[in-house]
Amino acid sequence: MRQPLVAGNWKMNGTRETIQMLVDGIKAGLGEVAKAEIAVCPPYVYIPMVVDMLAGTHVAVGGQDVSDQESGAYTGEVSGAMLRDVGASYAIVGHSERRSIYGESDAFTARKFAAARRFGLTPILCVGELLEEREQGITEAVVGRQLDAVIDLEGVAAIGEAVIAYEPVWAIGTGKTASPEQAQEVHAFIRQKLAALDAGVAEKVRILYGGSVKAANAEELFRMPDIDGGLIGGASLQADEFLAICRAPDAV
Ligand code: PGA
Repeated sequence: MRQPLVAGNWKMNGTRETIQMLVDGIKAGLGEVAKAEIAVCPPYVYIPMVVDMLAGTHVAVGGQDVSDQESGAYTGEVSGAMLRDVGASYAIVGHSERRSIYGESDAFTARKFAAARRFGLTPILCVGELLEEREQGITEAVVGRQLDAVIDLEGVAAIGEAVIAYEPVWAIGTGKTASPEQAQEVHAFIRQKLAALDAGVAEKVRILYGGSVKAANAEELFRMPDIDGGLIGGASLQADEFLAICRAPDAV
């Protein structure tokens, strides 16, 4: 049985004050969440504060990105060792905003995935197609290529120790969610692709869906057999909405 994971990706949002309110709100509702593991990914500078606030709870904290390098003269970078040092346990890698706005390639993403693992962080590897790629019928080819970059570098067993997030780019922040069937189709493709290499990895790895998940649609998405939770952007910035998504696995 895979434990569902609901991870909040706060992106570049928040101040000390609003984050305090958000975390207090989340903490107040944790008692009503039974099945899901919960994680939040604040902007780097707020991670230590959020780790402190969440001490004594089961909520994990992650980085939204991680450097491919270990340490040294890499201005602006934050290493996996640093994230680990301040109490993070996850790192998102290959988010579509990193890929499309900052031009991060499949190979670069794979190196970040490797760097996260090297320092004991669990990578949350984001994959997903653009709207024009879906329209061209090449969704599986794109997602397959993004996965292969990591498998080629780190091996399939490493995927089994990570988390995958399928996030169709056209559904991120647009209010346009993939239908549960559309999402399930790609999640099943990912699991089958992994199963062809290693059945145990395919069975074990959690594949999250991301892209305009909200309380109103979380349950129908999480009901699908290969959807093991969600990576939540906008809706993770409101405690009540996020908590309702965290409770959705209890209803399915
Ligand atoms: P969204 O973002 O929920 O705001 O669509 C999801 C993500 O980018 O991880």
